[in-house]
Amino acid sequence: MTPVLALENLEVVYHHVATAVQGVSLRVPPRAIVALLGTNGAGKTTTLRAISGFLGADDAQIVDGRVVFLGRPSRAARPTSWRAAGSSWCPSATRFSRR
Ligand SMILES: Nc1ncnc2c1ncn2[C@@H]1O[C@H](COP(=O)(O)OP(=O)(O)O)[C@@H](O)[C@H]1O
Ligand SMILES: [Mg+2]
Repeated sequence: MTPVLALENLEVVYHHVATAVQGVSLRVPPRAIVALLGTNGAGKTTTLRAISGFLGADDAQIVDGRVVFLGRPSRAARPTSWRAAGSSWCPSATRFSRR
C-alpha cells in the first residue's frame, strides 16, 4: 500500500556546513500514527521542517534523499503545496498532521 508519507535517506544541512540529520528514512502508512522520538538535538524538528518545507527561513537545505508525499516525490517542498494537499505544520507542538 502506498504510504501517505515516506522519507528516503534524508539529509539536511544548516548554513551549508552543519549536518543536522543524515540517512533518515521512515514510512507513514495510511491511517497510521507515527511518532518521531529522540534526544535533544537528534533532529526531530529539522526532520519535520524538511517534510513541511519550512527549512529556508533557517538557512537549511535538503542535500540528499527525498520526501515522498502521497506518492509524489519532492526535494524542495513548499509549505503552500503541502497545505493544498491537506497537510499542516504546527511548530509549537512540533507535529505534522494531515486533515
Ligand atoms: N537554525 C539552526 N541553525 C543551525 N543548526 C541548527 C539549527 N536548528 C537546529 N540545528 C542543529 O541541528 C541539529 C538537530 O536539531 P533539531 O532538529 O532542533 O533537534 P531536535 O528537534 O531533535 O531537538 C542539532 O545539532 C542542532 O544544533
Ligand atoms: Mg525540536
